Amino acid sequence: MATIGQRGTWSSRAGFILAASGSAVGLGNIWGFPTQVGQGGGAVFVLIYLACVVLICLPIMVAELVLGRRAQLDPVGAFSMLRPGSSWWLVGALGVLAGAGILSFYSVIAGWSVAYIWYTATGAVTGDADAIGTFFGTFTANGPLSVGLALLVLTTTGAVLLGGVQSGIERVTKLLMPALIALLLILAVRAATLPGAAAGLAYYLRPDFSRLLDPAVINAALGQAFFSLSLGMGAMLTYGSYLSKRESLITAACWVVALDTSMALLAGFIIFPSGFSIEGFDPSASGPGLIFAVLPRLFSTLPGGQLFGAAFFILLTMAALTSTISLLEVPVAHCIDVHKWTRRKAVILVTTGVFLLAIPSALGNGAVAALTRMPGIGVDFLTMMGTIWNNFALPVGGLLTAVFVGWVWRVDQAIDEVETHGASFPAKRLWSVLIRYVCPVAISVIIVYTIVSL
Ligand code: PHE
Repeated sequence: MATIGQRGTWSSRAGFILAASGSAVGLGNIWGFPTQVGQGGGAVFVLIYLACVVLICLPIMVAELVLGRRAQLDPVGAFSMLRPGSSWWLVGALGVLAGAGILSFYSVIAGWSVAYIWYTATGAVTGDADAIGTFFGTFTANGPLSVGLALLVLTTTGAVLLGGVQSGIERVTKLLMPALIALLLILAVRAATLPGAAAGLAYYLRPDFSRLLDPAVINAALGQAFFSLSLGMGAMLTYGSYLSKRESLITAACWVVALDTSMALLAGFIIFPSGFSIEGFDPSASGPGLIFAVLPRLFSTLPGGQLFGAAFFILLTMAALTSTISLLEVPVAHCIDVHKWTRRKAVILVTTGVFLLAIPSALGNGAVAALTRMPGIGVDFLTMMGTIWNNFALPVGGLLTAVFVGWVWRVDQAIDEVETHGASFPAKRLWSVLIRYVCPVAISVIIVYTIVSL
């Protein structure tokens, strides 16, 4: 099978759905979503998140896939091909930067997941909640270890991109998704039967409407939806550029969104009941360590918990890798398509750059935390990177994509592309309204509201 750089196509619609879901499902679902729900006040965050997914992200997913399939190029190439001589290529450039920026902190967390395969398998991380929390603190305080693990994740990703990508991604994801769903279901059932689970479920499902208009919550939900669906930075555009003209874009988009959202919701059904079964648990206080503090506790309540734990972190690491591949592919495809670099040169240089950017995130919880803490913001570098890229860069990328498709390139062109080869575009009127009016207005209002409230 050809490598992506030689512009192959996915072997079938199922192949595309698998690859796009591989990009979407990752740390964003299992690590990011519960963490954000915890900080956003529980069920009210979930509600706003779902609204963002359906009303804003699904239409933008269609728009990105359409752009990619029409242009058959990387994001920068796509925007400049469809509007030559304009500045629209900058939207693609923002995506290329976002890919590198997100990958820089993503690889650190993926590295933690790698380490936890070992720690859970060997029984190193056990005991009561305090012991498990302390373990995580000591582990992340070891900056050089986090740096090394991030390097391992990045070199593995780079190595995959050097070889043929799509047959590999398709094959891995085909096994990964069902295995991950099965394991998550087992864990959710176990979590629901723990003492204290009811309080966790209530927190997760019963909204506290007093935070409905909290700008920080709305902004975080929007950013999380973009991040989890790999939107707003051209990853789906790039994947769409390998989608065959005969396939229905709309069905593919709906599948990916449904699968990704179910996985995130399922992760919440594991984390909150288990968390609340621990005395004194505060979901908003744990930050990026939430799943690493809660899950080992859950595994310890299961027969064969070490095995379950190791299997879980293996699957999580693989899910993270199918996402890091798509994150790295955006800047790499850009260097190949636009700057005419060889794939080898592009992979090596981009991976090195991202690694350098990953170092402060990896050290952020360690001895040099003081250095990487931004004055006045009071959060670690990793959290700050997450906020900048997820909460601002991705929604802005999505906003500009919506404006481009809705008003510049125009919706009839997009509908035409969806309907090539006789595929139908159900609800095209509704989609046009969403992409032209709802997405741009809603995203602008949320961003302005967030900035003003800062
Ligand atoms: N969607 C991925 C996840 O949830 C992360 C990602 C974001 C991948 C943006 C590609 C582009 O883990």
